Amino acid sequence: MSGNALYTDLSGYYDLMCADIDYQAQSHCVHRLHQLFGNGGKRHLDLACGTGPHVRHFIDAGYTSGGLDINQPMLDRAAIRCPEARFARQDMCGFTVDEPADLITCFLYSIHYSGSLDRLKACIASVHEALAAGGVFCFNAVDKRRIDNASFVTHTARHEDGLFSFSSGWHYAGEGERQSLRLRIERTVAGETQVWHDEHPMVAVSFTELQTLLEPYFEVHVLAHDYEKLTPWDNASGNALFACVKK
Ligand SMILES: C[S@@+](CC[C@H](N)C(=O)[O-])C[C@H]1O[C@@H](n2cnc3c(N)ncnc32)[C@H](O)[C@@H]1O
Repeated sequence: MSGNALYTDLSGYYDLMCADIDYQAQSHCVHRLHQLFGNGGKRHLDLACGTGPHVRHFIDAGYTSGGLDINQPMLDRAAIRCPEARFARQDMCGFTVDEPADLITCFLYSIHYSGSLDRLKACIASVHEALAAGGVFCFNAVDKRRIDNASFVTHTARHEDGLFSFSSGWHYAGEGERQSLRLRIERTVAGETQVWHDEHPMVAVSFTELQTLLEPYFEVHVLAHDYEKLTPWDNASGNALFACVKK
């Protein structure tokens, strides 16, 4: 099953899969980063917005917010969650906007869905083009050199359709520009267990390479991957938050 098919087929379960994510804390943290580094504007766009949980929080915090995603079933759910927002089915590696944004975000490592270094460059160029003067681009990323192939995150959730267990982990072969996100979803109903395995091809990049791609367009701040405290990245952790101010 392709990555896109998984989100299509399981879009109804996507929010359950993400039930342990603190979307409010993530959105609030990025709002603080925008206050620190941004231009004071309130127009927000979320790339790879999924079912729109961040868009909801940004609207509630006073932004005019919208999102784009390539998956229509995810966008349909986002539109129900945020009826006042504008959503568009677009590829983040070549999108356009009607009006410039003051803040563009891309959460949950989704920037890696650009899939190749050329497409990642195209995504960065599209973001730069779509931002207003002094606008900020915030996203999180993982450094390919620090991926531990044995590390998986698992959580379980009960739903009217059964008991679900979701596991995900990064896999990087050690060379090249491809890594994958491996997913395992287990559903148990009346003692019977069904298992889905999926592998999403993603772009692999080191933070040094990523900074080199961003720096022609942005003043780049790399922060620790901690949505509670705003502290500089320690040059060692494999995850980080990027706050990039349009040059
Ligand atoms: C892991 S989900 C993250 C959703 C949301 N950002 C969140 O934090 O819950 C990844 C999303 O990226 C979308 N996606 C994948 N490739 C994309 C692309 N090239 N352009 C736009 N969206 C994309 C998928 O359809 C999916 O909704």
